[in-house]
Amino acid sequence: MEDQKTALNLPLSEAITISAQAIGEVMSGRSLTEVLDQLDAHERPIVQSLSFNALRKWVRSQELMRQFIPKAPPPEVAHLLSVAIALFLQDSTDGKGYASHTIVDQSVRACGKYDKTMYAKGLVNAVLRKVSLATQPSEYPPDPIPMFVPPWWRANLKNNYSKQWQSILFTQARRAPLILRVNQKQYSREQYQSLLDEAGIASSAIESLAGFALPDALLIPNPVPVSDLPGFYGGAVSVQDSGAQLAASLLTPNSSDLILDACSAPGGKTAHLLELADCQMLALEIDEERIGKINGNLDRLRLRSEKVKVLHGDASKSSWWDGALFDKILLDAPCSASGIVARHPDIPFLRRQSDVVALQKKQREILTQAWQMLKPEGLLLYVTCSVFPEEGENQAVWFAQQHTNALRLDAPGQLLPTEVNDGFYYALFKKNGR
Ligand SMILES: C[S@@+](CC[C@H](N)C(=O)[O-])C[C@H]1O[C@@H](n2cnc3c(N)ncnc32)[C@H](O)[C@@H]1O
Repeated sequence: MEDQKTALNLPLSEAITISAQAIGEVMSGRSLTEVLDQLDAHERPIVQSLSFNALRKWVRSQELMRQFIPKAPPPEVAHLLSVAIALFLQDSTDGKGYASHTIVDQSVRACGKYDKTMYAKGLVNAVLRKVSLATQPSEYPPDPIPMFVPPWWRANLKNNYSKQWQSILFTQARRAPLILRVNQKQYSREQYQSLLDEAGIASSAIESLAGFALPDALLIPNPVPVSDLPGFYGGAVSVQDSGAQLAASLLTPNSSDLILDACSAPGGKTAHLLELADCQMLALEIDEERIGKINGNLDRLRLRSEKVKVLHGDASKSSWWDGALFDKILLDAPCSASGIVARHPDIPFLRRQSDVVALQKKQREILTQAWQMLKPEGLLLYVTCSVFPEEGENQAVWFAQQHTNALRLDAPGQLLPTEVNDGFYYALFKKNGR
């Protein structure tokens, strides 16, 4: 049989090999985004899709492997099998499915890249044939088990969300929808929807979330590559979860504001604020390498001006600060990212319980520092993409206790992940007097 080509002309067997290597990197502690960023453009989409699928179906694929292989295979074979078995577990919400014989054939070919002994080929062939029979739709309900999270993570969810913890994991095990943010500087949402209609791309407006308006959000039920989106490279639109889109409107930016985006890369929320108002903006970021991403986004969205400054610096310190108080501060703090697992399924494999403790400490340091830099009557929006209260409500309560001049305003609080949004936490504070 010939090599099965994927949509981008990369043989599926090669995509399986590269994905298995990517899974190996994640298992040794490396972020999948970092691994994917190093791939060629023609490799990335299919490798991302196979690797995401492998991580989302991890619980079931490992179970099947244990069922059919008495002795654990070498790691590189196990990783390849994880990618391949996950392909049998895809359901209609997962996008492209492959015929069983194609999965078996291409996975066996994928072994050839490193196996000269035939051991792996024989094993992969035998196991996948058994898995193929065991996962026939009539035998097996699709995706019956939520995705992998470590025991401490599961315990945290159970403790804090006794009724919803399973549905949180089910939601996060599904493929995240494509959600766009229309650049109001270029198009109204309705105008952009017309462009999508003309391009044959279906869309629907997401009007609000948790009672807060979302003026720019569009859901694309059948995702397309960004290159197919009208005007994408001219800055007409960005890919941004609807939960993340609440930040800019909660801060109510206007053109006379001096705003600090304290933790800004890759600049999604910075850009949204600038799309809503020609404010003076200082986008701060501690990771020098990620500053290029902020600049790239501002360039693509045509949001550069002398009022916008991107700066390398640590928001928990003041060494970078010129002393000018800010009208508004967006503090989108570093966090566990436990709310965005649907878009980053490697996170549960990488995070340690001790990370949450360290992050909580860092969040407090940044909150405390940022408050000193805010004008009286100014607004500070604290955001995390976490579902752990340690990084959300507990922090807001702690902060309000520490600062008697902090008045809590109406904000969504904890948003749990749903089909149209990731999990975020929002608290809004106004500085009373001095
Ligand atoms: C949640 S991400 C921000 C996402 C961004 N606001 C957006 O919407 O595109 C947090 C960012 O904070 C940065 N960061 C972490 N610690 C920081 C610190 N002490 N000072 C400034 N930036 C920090 C991280 O490198 C990361 O880029």
